[in-house]
Amino acid sequence: MSERRVGLWLIGACGGVGTTATLGLAALSRGVSDSTSLVTGLPLFEPLHLDEPAQFVVGGHEIRRAGFRQTVRELQKRSNIFEPALADACQEDLERWESNLRPGTLLQCGPAIARLADRTDLTTSDTARDAIERIQNDLRDFRDRNKLDQVVVINVSSTEAPFETGDVHESLERLIPALERRQPPLPASSLYAWAALDLGLPYINFTPSLGASLPAMLELAKERRTVIGGKDGKTGETLMKTVLAPMFALRNWQLLSWVGHNIFGNRDGQVLDDPANKASKIRTKDQVVSSILGYKPQTLVSIEYIDSLDDWKTAWNHIHFKGFLGTKMTLQFIWQGCDSILAGPLVLDLARLALFAQRRGEVGVLRHLACFFKNPIGVQEHDFFKQFALLEEYVKQC
Ligand code: NAI
Repeated sequence: MSERRVGLWLIGACGGVGTTATLGLAALSRGVSDSTSLVTGLPLFEPLHLDEPAQFVVGGHEIRRAGFRQTVRELQKRSNIFEPALADACQEDLERWESNLRPGTLLQCGPAIARLADRTDLTTSDTARDAIERIQNDLRDFRDRNKLDQVVVINVSSTEAPFETGDVHESLERLIPALERRQPPLPASSLYAWAALDLGLPYINFTPSLGASLPAMLELAKERRTVIGGKDGKTGETLMKTVLAPMFALRNWQLLSWVGHNIFGNRDGQVLDDPANKASKIRTKDQVVSSILGYKPQTLVSIEYIDSLDDWKTAWNHIHFKGFLGTKMTLQFIWQGCDSILAGPLVLDLARLALFAQRRGEVGVLRHLACFFKNPIGVQEHDFFKQFALLEEYVKQC
């Protein structure tokens, strides 16, 4: 088992989430951190013999000049996370993995994301096909140079604005010719997804961007015998919603309204400050409560960028509900979480589980990963406990 070497390829590698996942892998493999917060660190997963942190090599695409070490320093300075001794112990790994970073594509990523780009080696590809080929060359090179048995691609890049899909996205037959057009038929997140799936690599979308969520992409995954999962990691406020909403449903309380106000100040928040990009996030955050209850109370989700909060998100939720004899009551909670610290370990869980699934010969959507996502592909269930039961069932039948 320890002979195997696997690759984790991150799109948006040097952001908060990508860097925390990377530092986490190094810290776990060097034994300077324990598995707290890794779902796959639970005893339930022991029989699966998932890939161990020391077996991983990290690489990825970026549009900024930053490296892992610089982002670790930024997160330490701005957000006061990561013990200096832990970060110091991992510098060598971070430096080595920085040599696996490659310039990403800006094709169809939208103006809010393009404004972040400061790498001088970003090419402006003419067609979707050109961008896909360049991404695939980077992925093949990563796999071959590091002699990797398997590679998983995870999207942790900035949230794109919603991208409307149409007939052309319904089948491979229609989408393939459209890749040659001057006006690309896919946003950047989907170009990466296509590149990965076409090479037969598992693809997971941790963001609300379109990624692989279209019928033609599922067809491609099946044809290339690989797996997909997503989308939008469920790490904080929405996790709380999908834990609490079942309680209201099972006590037969009537939910009248659910208001969630989120404030945070990291780079993700800066991109989400653009109304177009924010719309994607609000869409995935706002649907879960109604879906669990089976009716729609009044809901409001707001997301505001407050620079000084850095990576620390505060979410205030006000839940108004009706009990016996029509009496109205209120539950309020305040969630104060560090975004990258919540998300990083889930990225590692998803990498381990996606690699495992592909190794077993699974193909298509990984439905059992629903509990990790706000908007799980192929699963309508949002109740966290029912979603986790899917994962338990899966592990038992493996
Ligand atoms: P971030 O802004 O720190 O990192 C995103 C990185 O992606 C940046 O370094 C940026 O330069 C890079 N990037 C943007 N477009 C790119 C492209 N086309 N190609 C290559 N790289 C590109 O954001 P953060 O906090 O790391 O979040 C990452 C993503 O994960 C966001 O979409 C966020 O909404 C999503 N997410 C985060 C959660 C959390 O932090 N708890 C929870 C759920 C989802």
